[in-house]
Amino acid sequence: MKGRILLINGPNLNMLGWREPEKYGSTTLDEIVRESANLAYKLGYELVAFQSNSEGEIVDFIQREGISSVGIVINAGAYTHTSVAIRDALLSVNVPVVEVHMSNVFRREPFRHVSYLSDIAVGSIVGFKENSYYLGILALVSFLEGKKVSLEE
Ligand code: DQA
Repeated sequence: MKGRILLINGPNLNMLGWREPEKYGSTTLDEIVRESANLAYKLGYELVAFQSNSEGEIVDFIQREGISSVGIVINAGAYTHTSVAIRDALLSVNVPVVEVHMSNVFRREPFRHVSYLSDIAVGSIVGFKENSYYLGILALVSFLEGKKVSLEE
């Protein structure tokens, strides 16, 4: 394995599958994590997934696991729009970050247009429902390896 990727999900994302399916699709977080781990594995990486509804637990996880990872894919949910603490935790571990959102936050309420993570991320992927996660993993790996995105071996 080439290294460990962290997949972090913030508040209410444990409700995926039931929560506002018109915005977030009907796939559950467990299914997304399983698919993400398969994809990461095919690309040569171990995936460690974490979800919490609590800001402090997300900060603790980033501090604990971030340093030994090669990169982070994060959907911080509503904390995207509020959390200086998660931003600072990501900065403190100094590994590349890809921000993902299932919905296109720019087509929604103005308060969702502000992200505390976008300008410290390598890039952001928004609006592709569960595919945002898979595209996020591909984007992180292509960034790490300096390659064009490809699913071929
Ligand atoms: C979200 C968008 C956020 O604004 C919202 O609070 C979420 C989900 C998304 O994946 O589209 O919880 O991060």
